Amino acid sequence: MKISVFGTGYVGLVTGVCFAEMGNDVVCIDVDPKKVAMLRDGKSPIYEPGLDALIHNSIKGQRIQFTTDAKFAVESSDMLFIAVGTPSDVDGSADLKYVLQVAETIATHMNGYKVIINKSTVPVGTGAKVKNVVAKKLQERKTTHTFDVVSNPEFLREGNAIEDALKPSRVVVGCESEKAAQLMTRLYEPFLKSGNPMIVMDILSSEMTKYAANSMLATKISLMNEFSRVCEKVGADIENVRKGIGSDFRIGPHFIFAGVGYGGSCFPKDVRALIKAGDDQGEELEILNAVEKTNQMQRDNFFEKIQKSIGGLAGKKIAVWGVAFKPGTDDIREAPALDLIQGFLDGGAEVCAYDPVAAGHAKEHFGQNSKVSFKDDQYQVLEGATCLVIVTEWKSFKEPNFDRIKSALKSPLIFDGRNLFSLSVMKESGFNYHSIGRPAVLQ
Ligand SMILES: NC(=O)c1ccc[n+]([C@@H]2O[C@H](COP(=O)([O-])OP(=O)(O)OC[C@H]3O[C@@H](n4cnc5c(N)ncnc54)[C@H](O)[C@@H]3O)[C@@H](O)[C@H]2O)c1
Repeated sequence: MKISVFGTGYVGLVTGVCFAEMGNDVVCIDVDPKKVAMLRDGKSPIYEPGLDALIHNSIKGQRIQFTTDAKFAVESSDMLFIAVGTPSDVDGSADLKYVLQVAETIATHMNGYKVIINKSTVPVGTGAKVKNVVAKKLQERKTTHTFDVVSNPEFLREGNAIEDALKPSRVVVGCESEKAAQLMTRLYEPFLKSGNPMIVMDILSSEMTKYAANSMLATKISLMNEFSRVCEKVGADIENVRKGIGSDFRIGPHFIFAGVGYGGSCFPKDVRALIKAGDDQGEELEILNAVEKTNQMQRDNFFEKIQKSIGGLAGKKIAVWGVAFKPGTDDIREAPALDLIQGFLDGGAEVCAYDPVAAGHAKEHFGQNSKVSFKDDQYQVLEGATCLVIVTEWKSFKEPNFDRIKSALKSPLIFDGRNLFSLSVMKESGFNYHSIGRPAVLQ
């Protein structure tokens, strides 16, 4: 099939490359010429495990092209995916300007029937807006090309994106026409061979499904984080509680890990967007408001705990492990580490941080600030630091050399925002150890 994907970010690039992997002819288009130039050279502008190899395969097999030429992308394909960003606007709503720009661009160059598929996360009703923008432009052009608008929200997880895109747990399609539904079924058939479903529904429900999914996941995290605060106060251990409730099939073991709070480019903005959408309809979403508040409290509490335990921040050096919002990605959008590091700097501390892949983005984020530095080695950042703060659960942090940590730090003190270590190992290894929702280990 002939496919164009607008946007070569975390979603668009993975989507385009995975469609090409199945043999489709794919054009990936972006407005950023630097990204396109890198991709033409076979280099991925983002870190995602396995992505480089697939880009290389598709280029070699001549199944993928990268371009900034919208006319070429529209004219050469029948199925046009929109996978551009929908960042939070100042009032929390999703900013649709990129999505609607792409819709207009598509209409400007349409040369026949097209299926316009929205993969960006968009508020309920966006399908109709896209349809209006396209219809208006076609009218201006005095052309009578027909088109269908489809909603096809994306559920991939950064860090597992290739596997999620090649073997999706489900494909949700919001559709108004039989013709478009058939094309979507044909396109996704090879991805659903193991029996996972394609769920076809109306466009409004499909758009809502994506927000409901992310809000549900964010709620699970915030609820566990709320439990963790009580655990800390009463001396219970949230890890034991997690195992105790996760074995109940009605609750399940997934996504119930307490920590320093969720971040990333999706949960925070999607929760805010659904709250705003509710407000616009006169529905106050009390649970989601609490989810957001709890998430911020979790970061603040962790920060306060560190500040209090080390007797103030001024003049201290703090070592940080992990900046990415989660392991497996270089994405630092709304990452808890950014808030924490900024707080340490504002309090007069110096920060030395390590992240295996996100350090480049973090350096850009903190700019010329001489009080924050990044090293290529996780042990180097510890030299002379008052404490180690763990924010992202990268694999290389899970079984570290505790002797090296102890000898590099000024004092054996760890603040763990991801509950990586057992309390008994910390006790035996001679650390003072503060984690989330568990009793502190004090030597
Ligand atoms: N990142 C995720 O894990 C994830 C998962 C599911 C859904 N989503 C949703 O998918 C959408 C895209 O997210 P992302 O993380 O891939 O964004 P991103 O910021 O990584 O990428 C967006 C890309 O779109 C490009 N772009 C902007 N305007 C364009 C235009 N007019 N034509 C062509 N390209 C254009 C940008 O240059 C950028 O490369 C968002 O709505 C997001 O909420 C993201």
